[in-house]
Amino acid sequence: MGMIDSLLGDSPRRHYRRRGYYVFRNVFPVEQIDALADTARNMMPDYPGEHIRQDGRAEVNDFYPGTQLIRNPPFNLHLPLSSDLRPLSVALQALITAPALADRLRELDGAEHYHINQTLLFFAAQTTGFHIDSWALDTVPHGGAHTLWIPLRDMDFKSGLPSILPWPMGKLVSEQELGLSSDRSHTDRYARYHEALSAKLLKDGPEIAAALVRRGDLMVWSSLTPHFTLPSQPFPTERLSLQVLLRPAHVKWGSFTVQPTDYPNTRVLPASDQFSFFVSEDIHRDFGIGEMAPQPIP
Ligand SMILES: [Fe+2]
Repeated sequence: MGMIDSLLGDSPRRHYRRRGYYVFRNVFPVEQIDALADTARNMMPDYPGEHIRQDGRAEVNDFYPGTQLIRNPPFNLHLPLSSDLRPLSVALQALITAPALADRLRELDGAEHYHINQTLLFFAAQTTGFHIDSWALDTVPHGGAHTLWIPLRDMDFKSGLPSILPWPMGKLVSEQELGLSSDRSHTDRYARYHEALSAKLLKDGPEIAAALVRRGDLMVWSSLTPHFTLPSQPFPTERLSLQVLLRPAHVKWGSFTVQPTDYPNTRVLPASDQFSFFVSEDIHRDFGIGEMAPQPIP
């Protein structure tokens, strides 16, 4: 064990650095989770209007046949985009800006302030293959962004759990390392990268990590940590949960393919001492929210 590891002991930060994920227990009050879950169940399926979805398009709810389970997950419900959905937005905002959440994140990376870039409210489990979230959102250098998964109901082994391949924080497998060129479209590069990464990682039958999380728990993984979703049984069945992507505010922002040397000029909606909500230029233009974030002091 090295000097730093022995100083850190068996802390969340050490676990996160070595394995790329951490499961925190009892972060949020169960009553708050239940109230949010009820608000989501009562408001969202009955909402007749369009809302931005996971694919970035504004759409009305699309349900799995014969159910009230939405299959096009609503995107960024935490932003104040619809007065009809305001109670749900407010409940989401309260959860994802909870001081207890900032305290846990600080245990992992020591940051003082976070920019929340996106939220997705899942009513049912999506089947996803092995992938890394860095292609959507990351930092410079890679590996500093976090994905949070917050169950809004108790989960069991048939729920459709996110599953992690334990992975040292910051470990990057580049396209070059996989023998891939980078002169194709982004969609092609994404598909070919993940195909090659899956083949490389799965050939030795790795151990994976999943947790039967309960209401109030929180699972966090890093932007470079490979993960997938186990199938749910039966399907579809309710797997109400919230996914949150965020980055420490003081770091440079990038993605898997773009690693700028400068800090970006970014719009945010300040939410609390510890959190701000990222606001895209599209949202700023269409809804008139968001102010320029102060540049971090280098
Ligand atoms: Fe993911």
